[in-house]
Amino acid sequence: MGSLKEDDDLGMAVSKDIILYVNGVRRVLADGLAHLTLLQYLRGLALTGTKLGCGEGGCGACTVMVSHYDPHLKECMHYAVNACLAPLYSVEGMHVITVEGIGNHRSGLHLVQEALANAHGSQCGFCTPGFVMSMYALLRSNKGLPTEEQIEECLSGNLCRCTGYRPIIDAFRVFAKKDDALYSMRSSSESLGSDFICPSTGKPCSCGEKTVNPLENWTGKCRNSYMPVAHNDIDGSSYCEKELIFPPELLLRNLVPLNLNGTGGMKWFRPLKLWQVLDLKMRYPDARLVVGNTEIGVERKFKNIMYEVLISVTKVPELNAFVVKDNGLEIGGAVTLSRLLKFLRKLVIERDAHETSACKAFIEQLKWFAGTQIKNVASIGGNICTASPISDLNPLWMAARAQFKVIDEKENIRTLPAMEFFKGYRKVDLKRSEILLSVFLPWTRDFEFVKEFKQAHRREDDIALVNSGMRVFLEEKDGKWVVSDASLVYGGIAPIPFSASKTAGFLQGRTWGQEMLQGALETLQEEIFLEDNAPGGMVEFRKSLTLSFFFKFFLWVTHSMEGKGSFFLKPLPPSHLSAVEPQKWASSTGIQNYKVDIHGTAVGLPVPHISSKLQVSGEAEYADDTLTPPNCLYAALILSMNAHARIISIDDSGARSTPGFEGLFLAKDVPGDNKIGPVIHDEELFASEIVTSVGQVIGIIVADTHENAMLASRKVKIEYEELPAVLSIRDALEVRSFHPGTERFLQKGDVEGCFGGGICDKIIEGEVQVGGQEHFYLETQCSLIWTVDGGNEVHMISSTQAPQKHQKYVAHVLNLPMSKVVCKTKRIGGGFGGKETRSAVIAAAAAVPSYLLKRPVKLTLDRDVDMMITGQRHSFLGKYKVGCTNEGKLLALDLEIYNNGGNSLDLSLGILERAIFHSDNVYEIPNVRIRGSVCFTNFPSNTAFRGFGGPQGMLIAENWIQRIAMELQKSPQDIRELNFQKEGSILHYGQQLENCTLRQLWEELKASCNFSDARAAVDQFNLKNRWKKRGVSMVPTKFGIAFTAKFMNQAGALVQVYTDGTVLVTHGGVEMGQGLHTKLLARTILKFIAFSTQGMKQVPNASPTAASASSDIYGAAVLDACEQIKSRMLPIALKHKHDCFAELANACYMERIDLSAHGFYITPDINFDWSTAKGRPFNYFTYGAAFAEVEIDPLTGDFHTRSADIIMDLGTSLNPAIDVGQIEGAFIQGLGWVALEELKWGDPDHKWIRSGHLQTRGPGAYKIPSLNDIPQKFKVSLLKDARNKRAIHSSKAVGEPPFFLASSVFFAIKDAITAARKESGHHGWFPLDNPATPERIRMACADEFTKPFASANYQAKLSV
Ligand SMILES: Cc1cc2nc3c(=O)[nH]c(=O)nc-3n(C[C@H](O)[C@H](O)[C@H](O)COP(=O)(O)OP(=O)(O)OC[C@H]3O[C@@H](n4cnc5c(N)ncnc54)[C@H](O)[C@@H]3O)c2cc1C
Ligand code: FES
Ligand code: FES
Repeated sequence: MGSLKEDDDLGMAVSKDIILYVNGVRRVLADGLAHLTLLQYLRGLALTGTKLGCGEGGCGACTVMVSHYDPHLKECMHYAVNACLAPLYSVEGMHVITVEGIGNHRSGLHLVQEALANAHGSQCGFCTPGFVMSMYALLRSNKGLPTEEQIEECLSGNLCRCTGYRPIIDAFRVFAKKDDALYSMRSSSESLGSDFICPSTGKPCSCGEKTVNPLENWTGKCRNSYMPVAHNDIDGSSYCEKELIFPPELLLRNLVPLNLNGTGGMKWFRPLKLWQVLDLKMRYPDARLVVGNTEIGVERKFKNIMYEVLISVTKVPELNAFVVKDNGLEIGGAVTLSRLLKFLRKLVIERDAHETSACKAFIEQLKWFAGTQIKNVASIGGNICTASPISDLNPLWMAARAQFKVIDEKENIRTLPAMEFFKGYRKVDLKRSEILLSVFLPWTRDFEFVKEFKQAHRREDDIALVNSGMRVFLEEKDGKWVVSDASLVYGGIAPIPFSASKTAGFLQGRTWGQEMLQGALETLQEEIFLEDNAPGGMVEFRKSLTLSFFFKFFLWVTHSMEGKGSFFLKPLPPSHLSAVEPQKWASSTGIQNYKVDIHGTAVGLPVPHISSKLQVSGEAEYADDTLTPPNCLYAALILSMNAHARIISIDDSGARSTPGFEGLFLAKDVPGDNKIGPVIHDEELFASEIVTSVGQVIGIIVADTHENAMLASRKVKIEYEELPAVLSIRDALEVRSFHPGTERFLQKGDVEGCFGGGICDKIIEGEVQVGGQEHFYLETQCSLIWTVDGGNEVHMISSTQAPQKHQKYVAHVLNLPMSKVVCKTKRIGGGFGGKETRSAVIAAAAAVPSYLLKRPVKLTLDRDVDMMITGQRHSFLGKYKVGCTNEGKLLALDLEIYNNGGNSLDLSLGILERAIFHSDNVYEIPNVRIRGSVCFTNFPSNTAFRGFGGPQGMLIAENWIQRIAMELQKSPQDIRELNFQKEGSILHYGQQLENCTLRQLWEELKASCNFSDARAAVDQFNLKNRWKKRGVSMVPTKFGIAFTAKFMNQAGALVQVYTDGTVLVTHGGVEMGQGLHTKLLARTILKFIAFSTQGMKQVPNASPTAASASSDIYGAAVLDACEQIKSRMLPIALKHKHDCFAELANACYMERIDLSAHGFYITPDINFDWSTAKGRPFNYFTYGAAFAEVEIDPLTGDFHTRSADIIMDLGTSLNPAIDVGQIEGAFIQGLGWVALEELKWGDPDHKWIRSGHLQTRGPGAYKIPSLNDIPQKFKVSLLKDARNKRAIHSSKAVGEPPFFLASSVFFAIKDAITAARKESGHHGWFPLDNPATPERIRMACADEFTKPFASANYQAKLSV
């Protein structure tokens, strides 16, 4: 350990006692681990509750709490951090608490865990430990109860893909100091007979009144039990007696300097004094200072940059101090953003208002800066010295006249204005021996205003597209307000923060007013320059944002001046106030409205997910958590970096010399057939000669660690001969690039006759582009494979929705009989279709080295690789021609529909077919003609995703409905209602509607959301507000339930009763958060029931868990098995009286009754024949409707959903709480698809991205909805007294149908944009593609600020 003499010379006497406490246990850390993250270390200790979701600080799955003692404040600091970015040695001398450290299901859950489990806040459970730990850290660090705002803020760095957040926030809200009454209006289920459902536990409970609406006066004991029992400055707040105390040793222990090592010659220093830092910098001029590691960590992992020497400066007092001076505030370079935020908030209260204009701007900017875990560790120095062109703070430092103090190894200090510090792309004015010592922020003067601006894809935890810091100092001269000084600095438009000095110069000396504004906008427009192909794209949007921001600034200053001194400016017109009013986000509230209809003992009860207790405590195991067998190897894939190319040569010498290398396997090594595919074998496991997409697998490398395998894979050099690539649907249409045999044609009535016969009053033609979507399951693809019996059998544990496909693929590529291959899946951390077929490719690849080397092999994809290679929701292109009457009655639809299949067929044909089936959504159309094909493109194969093409078909339909409405100047709601299908309607593929509840749902929704009042209120609001617009929409859906491939509609289950009365159920379905086991549990009458890991041994040939049908079909199969056993037990039961089921089971055993049964089910009456294009592809339909109200900011494109109201017909729900969870989760995932999530590919429209590459490859660049994106009012109702005779217990499938309802948000946005456009004189239809990102919203709100850059019907580029 660090005993180098020269280091001792530096005064770095190094302690041998390098320690860390983990969950109260003292751990001595060895030297040589500087390369490890805290997450790697914890998972190595088998503390696998802390998950790896992204490795880049963007998902929060790895959240742990770190505590350290601050000897100056004499208290403990407790805070949440992302373990995936925290270097192991950064927590030396600290206490780390993981989810395992706060409770478990055996010795008792912590209240945070219990609240989340009981309130249905955990579905797949992969994100759950992270949420638990964020909340736990907040409670522990807060002296009293936190506010709701603090709770929402603390969760801003945690993503969940399943729940839609509402149950999570409801679960944690019980810890907030808000009044009970407010809380009690929220999570409500309407009734449970006369029983009360506790909003805190989500279960029937006796803590409240038993009335119809018992929640109003609820002050139940469950609520009270979440009060902290004590607060101690050292230990923080205690919520229960099991709280781990801060280890006394760490209170007494003096900090020691550290001098440690890692692999590859890496060095880690932790000096305690400034002079030590400077000496180290002298000795290692290339050494990097490290504070939060949020930049360095990402650079090391994703850009493969090696930093040999890191100097951690978190404990150097001079770099961590705040000094309040007469003229401003001096902030140490290593001060973290959370500390800065806290300090500024205090200053703003303490100091005169005019002095803190800049402080307020920083507070606002920091609010939307990263998640809490990042802010807790990231430093201002790290942000400044990284010099990112989109840094949120640097434009503000510059605008606010901050000064940077730098110091060199000789302790010479230079002070330079922030304006002059940034020299080039990620280059600053620092010599190699210098560091940033501190930042000085001057107080603002009277009539000096500083304001921040930021527009990102997503409000919360996202880097800016464009940001800005603006300052103006006004002086009164000759009765006028004149600009004495100004600075405008923009981020995101140039390689360094761009100071618009010409515009600032223009402002100087001018009188503040309208004339100055116009001149400034013109100067700014000339001054801002962005090339058409500028990195980041969105050039028109970014340019117009620069004008929008300045306009907002002008209005804000004008408004701020209203209350100041003698005033000569005209006050703002009231309608313009909307541009400057601060955004206030009320906490989201949810209402769930359903009737509990109990069948038997448990069916219909809103019981929590059966694994929820294991999930909240981190005990639930996922594939990557499985203890690796001895001798295990780790795999990494060799991936194509070309979209279409011939492989000329492969040089693997670099890989073979990598430490820990154990083998490399290519196409020639595959023991069986290298050709694979779920429907047809049209792809290669390992590309042999030609690659057809970036990310296509060329081979696999195994090594002793995951990191070494990754390193070796990067060293494989492949020479290619490039071939022409097809990179969009339009490209494919141009060169007729289709997957063979995928043409589909379907017709009803006489389309030509209708269009040609003069019957239609209106014929409209158009195109709809539908964007794709990444699954973003929180658990990435993972398989652990090993051989048994000398390689004769292959076993695997995989994260998959389709273990049978894994079995099939692996058997196929290894040339083994399927009976020799076993795939087990306990649970998966989300799938959404992405683990139906593409996971099998991963397993098959890993099986090759495992089989050939006869060693266990684990392959876990890093998030970026997973996103790059495993395919997404298909993008679509629809070309439509619709005819209708003047009233809007539909007469004919002629549709061409294409999906982007990528480089193999996979499931794309089934997806196209479902899109065709759903192209009517819910509308009666007498004449229909639809043709479509699957396009072959040079992208990774696209695959199944919740809805399986249905949402795309319906979105195209709703687009033309909306267009008809606009052309006829009618409301889209009226056009919808006029054309609803009804009982007995014959659909365009021949199926007749039965039990159609569409109209009933629609009417109930209209009443529930009070649509006409909502419409009127929105119109009123829009009249009064020029720069905020609201919109409303109601959208219906009808979703066909069944696999469209008939043979897949079958299910098996094995039920085994043991003599102690316990029951083991094994079925072909996979638990992936949707509560399948929980629902099936309800179908058996037994209490002591367990679900076996899904494996192909007990239940063969299982269909994938997909198509929303698993509860239906596996439920029926389990019931079949139960019925068989019941009928065998009945005679024994009738013979004698048995006190309990165990007694009966034992009696049956003694009578030699077979207590095991195999159940089987096939969905009846389904058939479809594409040669006639007629039949009954679906068992039944699930109907729903949703209302949404949104508000947009036309100047920036920002939006939020003010309210969403959803109603669905789920028959008699098997478990209403789980069904509501599915609806909310699907809706929020759908909201991501329609409004947030944009995939950007290197295609003809995105030339700044390398051809064929995916740019949006992680949570940093690809934005799924966060907590802040959910509707402020979120109501979900289930249609009451609805029965579905075509499924078990009269229930209906729920997984996919609600997804499309989120399009109500999309059309509400379009409605709001329409209002904005009218202000500028643009009436009539305009294009809007999904996702309706800020770019699309802003550019569609065509006005004077977009006009210089784009036409009113500008269509932002979209990878389709
Ligand atoms: C998930 C995530 C979200 C983010 N969101 C945002 C965001 O919203 N807005 C935004 O602007 N940024 C964002 N960032 C970027 C990043 O977090 C910030 O730049 C952060 O402030 C860096 O601080 P750090 O202490 O972690 O830097 P480190 O990674 O520790 O260091 C970064 C660099 O700065 C140098 N350095 C640090 N201190 C000094 C010093 N005193 N003198 C000289 N050099 C120094 C280091 O040597 C290193 O090269 C985000 C990053 C992540 C991972
Ligand atoms: S795994 Fe650490 S934030 Fe995602
Ligand atoms: S429960 Fe949150 S990601 Fe699955």
